Amino acid sequence: GSPKYQLLRQPGLRPSRHLPDTLIIGVKKSGTRALLEFIRLHPDVRAAGSEVHFFDRHYQRGLRWYRHHMPYTIEGQITMEKTPSYFVTKEVPQRVYHMNTATKLLIVVRDPVTRAISDYTQAASKKADMKRFEQLAFVNGSYSVVDTTWGPVKIGVYSRYLERWLLYFPLSQLLFISGERLIMDPAYEIGRVQDFLGLKRVVTEKHFYFNATKGFPCLFKSEARSTPHCLGKTKGRNHPHIDPSAIERLREFYRPFNNKFYQLTGINFAWA
Ligand code: A3P
Repeated sequence: GSPKYQLLRQPGLRPSRHLPDTLIIGVKKSGTRALLEFIRLHPDVRAAGSEVHFFDRHYQRGLRWYRHHMPYTIEGQITMEKTPSYFVTKEVPQRVYHMNTATKLLIVVRDPVTRAISDYTQAASKKADMKRFEQLAFVNGSYSVVDTTWGPVKIGVYSRYLERWLLYFPLSQLLFISGERLIMDPAYEIGRVQDFLGLKRVVTEKHFYFNATKGFPCLFKSEARSTPHCLGKTKGRNHPHIDPSAIERLREFYRPFNNKFYQLTGINFAWA
């Protein structure tokens, strides 16, 4: 055969699909898409483009099905997938553990109050007559009792979900990425991710520029596009105005859970 064919006969060079080594497990609306798009700039990272939802929705289809949703890689390349609902779905830690106990887990976290508003804003964008955030976040009319059953509020209790992951994985296999810092200083956070994954620091500040109109970091180029571009319109939405006293009450609600989360992770995210 041709020289190219000869090359492809070498096992490590023949592209094939592999189960992921690394998962971005959440948290929804914290910057998970930005993280995936930024880290996949690295030539040694290959990622599934859309959320596969294997461990939460399609688990019964089996690992063969999952593997077929992974991109082709050659030896030395990391296979990655991101599905933010993994972090909060009860059965997922055990299922990931059963696939591979050495799986590396990336978790983007953001102030749970802004995360809740972001989550609400996304839901409201899909539904015409959505109630106000303040009406949904609290039980009854006042701001006294927080509705902890409402998804956007519930998901922000990070410590509760993290405790389940820690039953299966040591902290050393988890990397927490600050969603705030991913916006302020993407190169810094991507540097940490590359170190954690044992990759050379290829993605650097040279890849990013700050788009003042959008108010977010954007990319000069990526695998898919060679011209400067930002994430899509659904990332970095304008949030509605929320009554400051509702925000204050939510901060108070999250404070003990945030402290617990800082304690579990050993990181003070200083969400106030
Ligand atoms: P908002 O749209 O509420 O501002 P996810 O990808 O997990 O759904 O997170 C979406 C959030 O990512 C956005 O929430 C935005 O704040 C944040 N984000 C982080 N970096 C971004 C970037 N470079 N461009 C756009 N949004 C970014």
